[in-house]
Amino acid sequence: MEKLAHASPADLMRWMVGYRNVAAQLAAPPRRTPVEMITALFPEVTVLAAEKCQLEFLQDNEFWNALNGRMIEGRRCHVGHADWHDFLYMAVRFAKPKVFFETGVFDGQSSAIILNALRKNQAGILVSIDLPATDAIQGSTDGMVNTTLPPNRQPGWAVPDYLRERYHLELGDSRVLLPQLFRRYPAIDAFFHDSLHTFEHMYFEFNEAWPHLSLGGLLLSDDIFWNPALHRFCREKKLQYVRTERFGAVRKPNG
Ligand SMILES: C[S@@+](CC[C@H](N)C(=O)[O-])C[C@H]1O[C@@H](n2cnc3c(N)ncnc32)[C@H](O)[C@@H]1O
Repeated sequence: MEKLAHASPADLMRWMVGYRNVAAQLAAPPRRTPVEMITALFPEVTVLAAEKCQLEFLQDNEFWNALNGRMIEGRRCHVGHADWHDFLYMAVRFAKPKVFFETGVFDGQSSAIILNALRKNQAGILVSIDLPATDAIQGSTDGMVNTTLPPNRQPGWAVPDYLRERYHLELGDSRVLLPQLFRRYPAIDAFFHDSLHTFEHMYFEFNEAWPHLSLGGLLLSDDIFWNPALHRFCREKKLQYVRTERFGAVRKPNG
């Protein structure tokens, strides 16, 4: 109690976010490792092949040095690493998407990971949407350590130059841009939500993307416990998602 009384507003926000939506957490499937997630979603991929792919990512010194250099220059800190980064990289390597959609870019770490995997695949483009966080955005960047972009930087500023060839960045609200972009790209192979984590927005994005997703395509979401949108969406579509701690993934059934 005393700890709570001395907590900063940012600490309180993080605490509330962590405990938001207990029902969704109770109903969630068990947490898996990135390799377990890959073998669950891609039954043809062996544990050995997934582990090899994870090492390919973790030992990619060219990538980590380039991204780290950008983060040190722009944020005065080292690049972070989460379980789901490994999963994201491996998912792109095994799914080999031709068109990958991402909402929520910020500094560009997830964009860089996807682009790195597309480069290794020697195929595919990344279409990313971001509403630039020049001020903190409630329900999105307000739960992060850095709540705004560094001064005078565009979203995706940390993406190393050698990965930009396959990058198509669109600036604006995904609620407005997604319908427009789906007219330009009616068929996509992967969709990753990481923009505004309100129930309405996440549920909107999942439903907007689903009809455009190819059979076997991937629907991915970070921060799945901010609200029950992914759980509700999957229940309605009779799908079972897999997850790391807070990152969910599901494949569109083939038939
Ligand atoms: C959690 S950060 C993205 C982090 C990034 N995916 C990564 O892992 O490196 C959320 C981003 O979504 C953006 N955003 C918030 N609301 C948005 C909206 N309505 N449409 C598009 N982007 C939005 C924020 O400005 C911020 O850049």
